[in-house]
Amino acid sequence: MKTVLTIFGATGNLMHKKLALALIQLLKQKQIDDSFQIICVSRRDYTTEMYFEHLKEFVKSDIDLDVLKNNLEYVKMDIMDLNDYTMLRKKIESKSSFPYQSLFYLAVAPEFFVDIASGISNAKLIEKGNSIGRIVFEKPFGVSFGSAKEINQKLSEYFEENQIFRIDHYLGKDMIQNILVMRFANRLLENNWSSDSISQVSIDVKETEGIGNRGEYYDSSGALKDMIQSHLLQMLALVAMEEPKSLSSDDIRKEKIKVLQNTIVKTQNAVFGQYEGYLFEQKIPQDSITETFVFLKAEVSTPRWKNVPFFLTTGKKLNEKKAEIIIDFKEHSSAKKLWPNNNHTSNQLVIGISEYEGIRFQMNVKKPGLNDTVSDALLDYCHSCQKIGNNPEAYEKLLKDFIVNNSTLFTSWKEIEASWNIIDHLKKDLSNPVIYKSISDFADIISKVKRGV
Ligand code: BG6
Repeated sequence: MKTVLTIFGATGNLMHKKLALALIQLLKQKQIDDSFQIICVSRRDYTTEMYFEHLKEFVKSDIDLDVLKNNLEYVKMDIMDLNDYTMLRKKIESKSSFPYQSLFYLAVAPEFFVDIASGISNAKLIEKGNSIGRIVFEKPFGVSFGSAKEINQKLSEYFEENQIFRIDHYLGKDMIQNILVMRFANRLLENNWSSDSISQVSIDVKETEGIGNRGEYYDSSGALKDMIQSHLLQMLALVAMEEPKSLSSDDIRKEKIKVLQNTIVKTQNAVFGQYEGYLFEQKIPQDSITETFVFLKAEVSTPRWKNVPFFLTTGKKLNEKKAEIIIDFKEHSSAKKLWPNNNHTSNQLVIGISEYEGIRFQMNVKKPGLNDTVSDALLDYCHSCQKIGNNPEAYEKLLKDFIVNNSTLFTSWKEIEASWNIIDHLKKDLSNPVIYKSISDFADIISKVKRGV
C-alpha cells in the first residue's frame, strides 16, 4: 500500500542524526519503494529547497541527501493552528490516491504530543480504529508518571492502542534483539539464568560526547529521564524477564511489564554526576543541577533474581562510547577445592550492544602443557562481522516495522508506566550531582553503594 509519512520536528536533532539517514537507507535498499512520500513539518519558513540546505548543514557530510529528493517535501506549519492541519490533509491527499496509509512521526518534545495528536485527529488525518493511520511518539513519553498518564489518556481519545507506537530505539538494535535468542535458545544459559548461578548484572551505556546543541531539552530531562527510564530499563527487562509464551509482542510485553513492576531503586542506591563544563553548554542555566551521569543499584524482586543486584550506569563525556550488558556468574562450587593453588576467574558473559557488537564469554581452562594450571580464556563471537551487506541501524529497523505495522519492538503504555514509577521518586530526591572529569571520580562512592555501606 502507498504510504505518506509526515514527520513533525523535522528541523530537530533526531532528523539530523538518525531519521534522515534511516530513510535514505530504506530507499536505497528498496525496503520502501519510490512511491513512498515524506512530508517534513516544522514552523520554519522554508521551501523544500531551503530545507535540504538546512539538512546539509547538520547531517554528516558523507550522507547522500539527493536520495530523498524525489520523495520529500517540506511544509511549514503552526502546530497550534487547526487550519494548518486541514492544509496538511490536502497536501497528503494530493500525494497519493486511495487506498494509502497515512503515518506520522512526532520527533518533538512530549509537551507537544497532545496538541499535535489532537490536530491530527480533528482534521481526520488519522481515524480512531482505522489502522491505516498510525503515529509514532519519540521518547521520552512524558516527563514523569503523572504527565505520561495524562498524555496517554488524551491519546486514547484520538487513537486505539494499536495505532500508537512509542519508540525506544535501543529495542531496534540487533544485539538487544539477540538477548531473547541467547536466553531462550541456549540450554546452557537457560539453566543458569538466575540467582543460583548469577552474582550480579551490570548494564552500561557510556558516551564520550556531551549534550551538543540539545541544551534546552537535556537540562529539563537529565540522564535519568533521557536514558534510564527508557533504554536501560528496557535492557534490564529483557535480561530479567521470564520466558514468554510466544514471541508475539503481547506475550513479550507481558513478561517485561512484570519485571518492571517488580523493580525498585532505593534513593540511597543512586549516584548522580554532572560533567565539568556542563554549565557552559548552550542554554544551560548557571545553577543547573541536572545530572549527566547516573549509577543505580536496582533490585528485581522476582524469585529468579533474589539478592542479585542490577547495576545501571550511564553518562555523557566519559572516556569511552560503549553499551554493554555484563553478567557475572558465581564461582564454581568446587573450583577452589580442586585447584587450591590457582586463581580462577568467575565466568563472565558480556553482551556487546555497541560499539562492539557481539558476545564474549570468559571461562577457566587448563593451561596447555604438562602442568596442571588453570588459566582464563575468552570466547569471542563478533556479531557485526557476520553481517553481509547493509548493517541496519536501529532507526532503520524500527521505521520499517512501523511502516509494515509491526509493533513488537515498540513499548506499551504499561511498560512506560512501570518505568516512570521506578525513577520518579529519584528525581524528586535528587541531590546536587558530583562534578566529574572522568568515571573514576565515582569509584569510591559507587563501590560503597555496591557494598551497601
Ligand atoms: C538517545 C538520547 O535516546 O540515545 C541521547 O536522547 C543519547 O542523549 C542516545 O545520546 C544514545 O543512543 P546511541 O544509539 O547512540 O547509543
